[in-house]
Amino acid sequence: MVKIGILGVGTVGESVAKILLENADIIEARAGKKIVPVLGAVRDLNKPRDVSIPLTDDPGEVIESADVDIVVELMGGIEKPYRLVRKALEAGKPVVTANKALLAYHRYELQEIAGEIPLFYEASVAGGIPIIGALRNGLSANHIESIKGIMNGTCNYMLTKMIQEGVAYEEVLKEAQELGYAEADPTFDVGGYDAAHKLLILGSIAYGIDAKPEEIIIEGIEEISPTDVEFAREFGYEIKLLGIAKKGEKGVEMRVHATMIPAKSMIAKVDGVMNAVSVVGDRVGETMFYGPGAGGDATASAVIADIVEIVRGNSGPMLGYKKGLESGLPLVPPE
Ligand code: NAP
Ligand code: HSE
Repeated sequence: MVKIGILGVGTVGESVAKILLENADIIEARAGKKIVPVLGAVRDLNKPRDVSIPLTDDPGEVIESADVDIVVELMGGIEKPYRLVRKALEAGKPVVTANKALLAYHRYELQEIAGEIPLFYEASVAGGIPIIGALRNGLSANHIESIKGIMNGTCNYMLTKMIQEGVAYEEVLKEAQELGYAEADPTFDVGGYDAAHKLLILGSIAYGIDAKPEEIIIEGIEEISPTDVEFAREFGYEIKLLGIAKKGEKGVEMRVHATMIPAKSMIAKVDGVMNAVSVVGDRVGETMFYGPGAGGDATASAVIADIVEIVRGNSGPMLGYKKGLESGLPLVPPE
């Protein structure tokens, strides 16, 4: 039996515990071992939860517990989870995280600390879409020419509802929060920072980009007005918040901003919380990955996929490619 400790039993953590319990049979069949959530850490022990697992308000206890084999970090934040993930890895415990903000700042340090201990993070980009596995495994024969797409479910949900149903910005943001799509601080979503964190993670895998969010151009959707949208539509375009990474001769340019896209293109038709990421490889050509970009169960699906991979015995560094391959391309300003 493999025992899971969950740091954070909120939107995603609760879904992870529930799915591990409710889909236990199929997960055991695929992993080859029974996987059981044994302990979770929360701030408020009195808050009602949809799942019943033992809880503590001391995250350190989850890491130190001799009963926990794999630590799953689903708390959010940057420095506190950094210290906890570091401690877990130093204790030799594999870690799964969905925390893109943590990885945007500390991915290489954590990879270094992890060494051969698994540090997996499929859920950190595009929710339930297995884009990291695709980029790392399925497309590994390719030089990656570009990565482009909708990487924030909250913004896409908001833009869709504002445009198609005329719902006001504040109201639709509140809806996205209630549905569990938004970050604890939704400025990360609407300001474009969350999409930038994800783009940097993908950029690390594809190109070995070792940059911080402050080094790339980030614009959100706060300034988009109904008039902008009306104009765009009149000329046959939709407005979407895109993350874009493009390899050129001197390096890779990366940016996040709202973009006018021809209404007939596939990405323009991606609505609601759905994400879609196009990856162009030099040999495969264009590939497109589509699916739910946020939400408890969709994200938990990706978290559990990582747990299953670890239980199957897959390990090794997840972030970037090993040195000597296509690693360490420089970030260059957009042309
Ligand atoms: P959430 O609903 O706010 O849940 C956070 C959980 O962590 C809560 O259970 C909270 O306890 C607990 N927590 C926070 N700080 C803590 C502390 N200092 N000590 C102990 N427990 C603490 O967040 P979420 O939406 O599940 O997101 C979790 C992570 O997944 C974030 O990194 C987020 O970026 C990432 N993510 C989320 C989604 C999504 O769709 N929501 C998708 C992909 C990735 P209480 O319940 O007691 O407050
Ligand atoms: N807040 C994020 C989003 C969660 O809306 O895309 C998924 O990473």
